[in-house]
Amino acid sequence: IKKIGVLTSGGDAPGMNAAIRSVVRTCAYHNIECIGIYRGYQGMIEGDFKEMGPRSVNNIVNKGGTILKSARSKEFMTAEGRQKAHQHLINSNVDALVVIGGDGTFTGAEIFNNEFDYPVMGIPGTIDNDIFGTSHTLGYDTALNTVVEVIDKIRDTASSHNRLFFVEVMGRDAGHIALNAGIGAGAEEILIPEDNLGLERLLESLQKSKASGKSSSIVVVSEGDKIGKNVFELKDYVEENLPEYDVRVSVLGHMQRGGSPSCFDRVLASRLGVKAVESLLEGKSNFMVGLLSDKVALTPLEQAIKGKSEIDKELLRVSDIMST
Ligand code: F6P
Repeated sequence: IKKIGVLTSGGDAPGMNAAIRSVVRTCAYHNIECIGIYRGYQGMIEGDFKEMGPRSVNNIVNKGGTILKSARSKEFMTAEGRQKAHQHLINSNVDALVVIGGDGTFTGAEIFNNEFDYPVMGIPGTIDNDIFGTSHTLGYDTALNTVVEVIDKIRDTASSHNRLFFVEVMGRDAGHIALNAGIGAGAEEILIPEDNLGLERLLESLQKSKASGKSSSIVVVSEGDKIGKNVFELKDYVEENLPEYDVRVSVLGHMQRGGSPSCFDRVLASRLGVKAVESLLEGKSNFMVGLLSDKVALTPLEQAIKGKSEIDKELLRVSDIMST
């Protein structure tokens, strides 16, 4: 392997830039070339490439987003699109790929690897932390800190007005952000897709809270929760059934994906980038590099895609006890 391509794809996440930097500099360290591919697989299809050396990634370790831009390419889902992308890689003498992203990104890489026997290595980057084979994805720790900081602020106003706030956080299919940020921010209840609390129990819990002397409450709701009502409908439902509650809603949205990465995410990105490049140089392919028991470890891409990243059920119990 003499030249490696690196791209970011899917939803961006803090720490992606630190991972790009790590890939580029590990290539330079081993005297091989590196090219950046813009806009994920779409840029690969269009040949949107740029040579990158150690100086092209100066001062990005601390930057949110991704300097390579990101996209979700529909064209890459077609054999024709992948054929074009492969041809561009061959024309530019790119021998292997490091892809930084989530589930969809890895699915694309796996298909590409199978079709062209092309060496690929994945780095998990998504704030949702919903990837099997790693305890942490890039951006997750930063997003948790962002969410906790914002909920702390919401708590100030909730408590001043004796209000209940439903705070919706990201996590299309996974409750990691809601559960951990919820505990960190001292939420009274946490609604996640993996464990449907049910509307009745939500009301009971809120009643209990009031009766125990709490004047304000925070309920953290994962956007993918299965209670059957969105946060605005939950507000109406609670106001109808518990008129003593004055309810407000706050949807945190994409602010959770931005911002300077935490130290944890920067270190993780640096470690995973080194491992991804060095694994390719050792002749390995079709793996994801991740963190397991605080050690960098490889998981076959197929498993990373199919496996489920479970939430820690003990955290639900901890949350229950904490809201006593
Ligand atoms: O990055 C993951 C995620 O934040 C999900 O939690 C969310 O549902 C989704 O991305 C939204 O992304 P977009 O607005 O880019 O489609």
